Amino acid sequence: MVHLGGRDRAKLERVARLAGKAARIVVADITTRAGIAALARRTRAGLDILVHSAGLYRQESIEAINAKAWAELDAVNLHAPVILTMACLAQLRAVSGQVVFINSTAGLHAGPRTLAYAAGKHGLRAAADALRQQVSPDGIRVLSVFPGRTDTPMQRAILKAEKRTAPPGTLLRAEDIADMVLAALKAPRSSEVTEIVMRPSKPLPAGR
Ligand SMILES: NC(=O)c1ccc[n+]([C@@H]2O[C@H](COP(=O)([O-])OP(=O)(O)OC[C@H]3O[C@@H](n4cnc5c(N)ncnc54)[C@H](OP(=O)(O)O)[C@@H]3O)[C@@H](O)[C@H]2O)c1
Repeated sequence: MVHLGGRDRAKLERVARLAGKAARIVVADITTRAGIAALARRTRAGLDILVHSAGLYRQESIEAINAKAWAELDAVNLHAPVILTMACLAQLRAVSGQVVFINSTAGLHAGPRTLAYAAGKHGLRAAADALRQQVSPDGIRVLSVFPGRTDTPMQRAILKAEKRTAPPGTLLRAEDIADMVLAALKAPRSSEVTEIVMRPSKPLPAGR
């Protein structure tokens, strides 16, 4: 059974339909206690794999960063995945489960105008590393994934703001990332894939 979490019921129902009878939705804002509790409650019957993919993006000059907007980014990109993992630890321990953090190449290298986003993603990498060291003895595996630009609504908004278009082959597809994550999750239990770095095979032409 797959439990799909997010705030937008209609969007979740669309994705659930693609997955067929094996999917259930949980309408939850992961920045709230109620949202975390709803997701953790749903997994009480068992949780093999927890995938953190929710994210927020902002791009701005250092002068434009403000504390409120930065806190909103960190709430989704850094704090929520850690808090949700903690809420699900007992279920994960019971079955030697696996945790996947969808990070970003910004979690490895900070670019210009991405201070707040990149700092949060660097923090998420550190959180995953610390978690892994703590839960490895329980047989839990922790994977961080660092994708480059990927064709999603988030990336389409970024390209629009940058006034750029992406020629074919210059963006990853979400399914490319899913395939790599699945391969890592299926790796024999004698091993652990801890990090995956992915980028589109063709570079995006430089912006104006
Ligand atoms: N697209 C890229 O180029 C790219 C590159 C590297 C890394 N990433 C990372 O990949 C992950 C997925 O991003 P994406 O490109 O798929 O972004 P997206 O198209 O904007 O989707 C983000 C998802 O996060 C969910 N979300 C946001 N705030 C939430 C909240 N408070 N509670 C629950 N769900 C929330 C949204 O669902 P609802 O709106 O329904 O709540 C939405 O489904 C993110 O961590 C992002 O940082 C993306």
